[in-house]
Parts: sequence; C-alpha cells; structure tokens
Amino acid sequence: MINEIKELKSKVEASLLGIKNLGELEDFKMAFLIKKGPIQALMNRMKDVPKEEKKDVGREINIMKKFAESEYKRLKEELENKESSEPTIDLSLPGRTANKGTRHPVNQIIDEMIDIFSSMGFSVAEGPEIEDGYHNFDALNFPPDHPARDMQDTFFIKDDRELVLRTHTSPVQIRMMENKKPPIRCIMPGRVYRNEAIDSTHLAEFHQIEGLYIDKDVNFAELKATMMTFAKKLYGDDLEFRFRPSFFPFTEPSAELDIKKPNSDSWMEVAGCGMVHPNVLKAGGIDPEEYTGFAFGFGIERITMLRTGIDDIRHLYENDVRILQQF
Ligand code: FA5
Repeated sequence: MINEIKELKSKVEASLLGIKNLGELEDFKMAFLIKKGPIQALMNRMKDVPKEEKKDVGREINIMKKFAESEYKRLKEELENKESSEPTIDLSLPGRTANKGTRHPVNQIIDEMIDIFSSMGFSVAEGPEIEDGYHNFDALNFPPDHPARDMQDTFFIKDDRELVLRTHTSPVQIRMMENKKPPIRCIMPGRVYRNEAIDSTHLAEFHQIEGLYIDKDVNFAELKATMMTFAKKLYGDDLEFRFRPSFFPFTEPSAELDIKKPNSDSWMEVAGCGMVHPNVLKAGGIDPEEYTGFAFGFGIERITMLRTGIDDIRHLYENDVRILQQF
C-alpha cells in the first residue's frame, strides 16, 4: 500500500509539472481530486489495512492528499491572476490603421518643379529670406520711388529700411550673377513675404521659384519655350495658357503667364517673366553687350491650386488634415 501511495504521488507530481493553463488544471482536478478519483480510492481501502500499519499508511495518504489539494489551489490562483492581466484581444474588431503623414502639397510641387527644371539643365540655388534693400530692390533696377518699397507691400526688419523680408525670389538672381560667370542656368525656390491683403489668391507669406538663364544670344522665344515646356510637363499637353505683356523694373520686355483653371472659363496668373534688363546684368557684374538672359518667377501656391483643384489659397495653410490627406 505504501508503494501504491508513492506511485500515485509521483503521478500527481508529474501531472502538476505539465499544467500551463486553467483548462489543464481542471483536467488535473478531474484526474485526482474528485470523489471517484484514485486518492479517495486509496482512502476507501484504509479499512482493510492491518491495524499496526494504519497509522503510517493513513499519514502518507493524508500528506499526499493535502499536497495535491494545496498545489491545485496555488496553481489556480496563479493562473487566474495571469490570465486576467493578459490583454484580451477581440479578433473580430476592424483594424485601426495608423494615420500616415505626407509631404505638404506645396513641398510636393516644389520637388516636382525641381525635377522638371533639372531635366531641362537648370541647377538649384538658394538665397537669404532676410535680404538687404540693395539686392531686393536697387540692384533689380527699382527706381528709388517705386511703390513696392512702400510700407504697404514690404515687411521691413528695421526702421532704417536697410533689411527686409524679401518680397520675391528675384534678389537671388543678383546673388547668382555676383558669384558665378555666365553661362548661368538655375532655379531658386524659396519663401517670400508681402504686406498683402489676404484673399482667395493672395497670402502674405508664400513661395516662388525664380529661374535665370544667362548666356550669349539668349532670346525671348527660348524663354517662352522653356515656360511652355515646363507647364506642359506639370499639367499635361491639354493645358491652356496665355502670355500677357506686363511690366517689371528688372526685365524688358516683360510678360505674365496665365493658366486656364480646370473646368472653368477663368484664368489664373502664375508667373512673371522677361528678358533680364541690361541694368540688372550690369549690377550683377555681367556685360550686357556680351550676354543676354531671361528670368521668370512662378508663384508656387497658385501652381499647386491649379494642380490640386483647391479653389482658395488659404486652404493650403489651414492645416486641415481632411484637405491635406487628399494629396
Ligand atoms: C514677381 O514677384 C517677380 N519677381 C517675378 C519675376 C521674376 C518677373 C523674374 C520677371 C522676372 P509678381 O509680384 O507678379 O512678380 O509675383 C510672381 C508670382 O507670384 C505671381 O504670378 C503669383 O503667382 C505669385 N504671387 C504674387 N503675389 C502673391 C500672393 N500675395 N500670394 C500668393 N502668390 C502670389
């Protein structure tokens, strides 16, 4: 009998070792601890045990029974705690996708414009956003009394009007001419600032891409061809556009480029352009008798509006993810 008890104890111990969850623990209970189980069966046989052995056998059975019961209790508590601290996952719930950020549509267009002009042989340059009056105005042939210098249009950094937030990217033209000998063929993207009344096509802070090509015998036909090629690459061959004569102090002759708005009869002005004025070449240290050049300046937010169909320029900077997510 003592041997049978020891054998059963080994079985109990071996079963306990394999228990990993509450289900297996219940199997253990059914195997050993119920009334019709092997432990109770041994106890039932106590009455047949000779008197002198009863004490020892009884003690061994009790020790084993207590051991099996206390282990059952201990494991039950342990496994219940473990299972309640594990997160329950409802596999039938629809998945939650993380919101993915994208580049701002204006930055996407800048990248695309850089790609297109690079493929046409233009390199990329940049200039300072805080500019001196000389580069922003004087070197660009603005007469001293030009209205653009007025407080209405320009943010001055200091009262002495020496430093300004650049009102356009054209001063970078001068910086390029000062630093490089022709041929020069580059584009100059960047942010510009104007003390402007804001409406659906005007912001006080926006982006332009300046273009400059200086070499021997550069002519207006090349300027037109360059701008048309660019616009068709960006918008496709069906694009409708028109050049209008215009005026800028730093180009002569000058023009503006309008593009027809999609599904509409109205036009949007997107760029100013022209042949670089001889005074500007001179200011940049280039001999106008030897070289000619063309320049252009696109408004990037307007280019972006035409490309995306956004009808109010202010939407681009309201940071409404419902708009920005679409691009
Ligand atoms: C200029 O800024 C000239 N520097 C462009 C130029 C460069 C002419 C080189 C000749 C040679 P303008 O002020 O027209 O020009 O601005 C150029 C473009 O910037 C406009 O066609 C328009 O697309 C955009 N733009 C102008 N003002 C605003 C504004 N307040 N908000 C948004 N876009 C604007």
